[in-house]
Amino acid sequence: MQLIDGKAISAQIKKEIAEEVTKIKAAGGKTPHLAAILVGHDGGSETYVANKVKSCEEVGFKSTLIRYENDVTEEELLQCVERLNQDADIDGFIVQLPLPKHISEQRIIEAIDYRKDVDGFHPINVGRMSIGLPCFVSATPAGILELLKRYEIPTQGKNCVVLGRSNIVGKPVANLMMQKGYPGDATVTVCHSRTPNIKEICQQADIIIAALGVPEFLTGDMVKDGVVVIDVGTTRVPSTETKSGFRLKGDVKFDEVSEKASYITPVPGGVGPMTIISLMRNTLLAGKKEIYK
Ligand code: GUN
Repeated sequence: MQLIDGKAISAQIKKEIAEEVTKIKAAGGKTPHLAAILVGHDGGSETYVANKVKSCEEVGFKSTLIRYENDVTEEELLQCVERLNQDADIDGFIVQLPLPKHISEQRIIEAIDYRKDVDGFHPINVGRMSIGLPCFVSATPAGILELLKRYEIPTQGKNCVVLGRSNIVGKPVANLMMQKGYPGDATVTVCHSRTPNIKEICQQADIIIAALGVPEFLTGDMVKDGVVVIDVGTTRVPSTETKSGFRLKGDVKFDEVSEKASYITPVPGGVGPMTIISLMRNTLLAGKKEIYK
């Protein structure tokens, strides 16, 4: 079994991005600038956004954090989005999800200029991705494909099972794995909460991408020998052993599944670190106007 080390790969990519930013600056080019909108004080969102801002500093980007309290109105947020759309110095921006219930996430996402949508959540980017056109691919699916690529894991003709059908991970990663080329060219099956025979389907899989958010869902008896397992789960469970008072649990029962797997991602240290680095890469592409002019 080989551990897929997302922490090491993301550190390597971070270095590559930082080197490119140094070159851009030396040539008198524009410093890429990412803005993030954070609403409220959800612990998970606070951590994610703080890490995004920190990563920007580490690769040499400019970053701007815009905060609102939970009682912000949809109208105020839409105005903020419009301001960022118009701001020529901002190359890309994200609105951290989830948003409070009184705000339509879809309305906010669709208000973002797709050319600045470095999260890849706007329907134009989702649509372009699904037909294989250049676009911003959302961070987690992009990070997963990058891991498969850097470990040179074969995907062509393989049975790839995606567990979960979220808009952020399940749907886009299933789509990318079936696209022509590498990593892709896989035969993809998507399982979800209404799939009756998940165990039998998983037992046929060469690659399993687990993204349901159910801790330790995938057990040893559900996989075949040699399977490649990508664990996207990051459920926070209380813990007395960490400073923060919680720890992350994946969707895979690691001890059991790692005994049979050829490659497997740990939690933490697998997909997680790749997600932020994919956002940094999208911001670099936005800064260079490489996808959209
Ligand atoms: N919430 C959980 N994941 C993400 C993400 O990738 N982007 C944003 N904006 N919010 C999230």
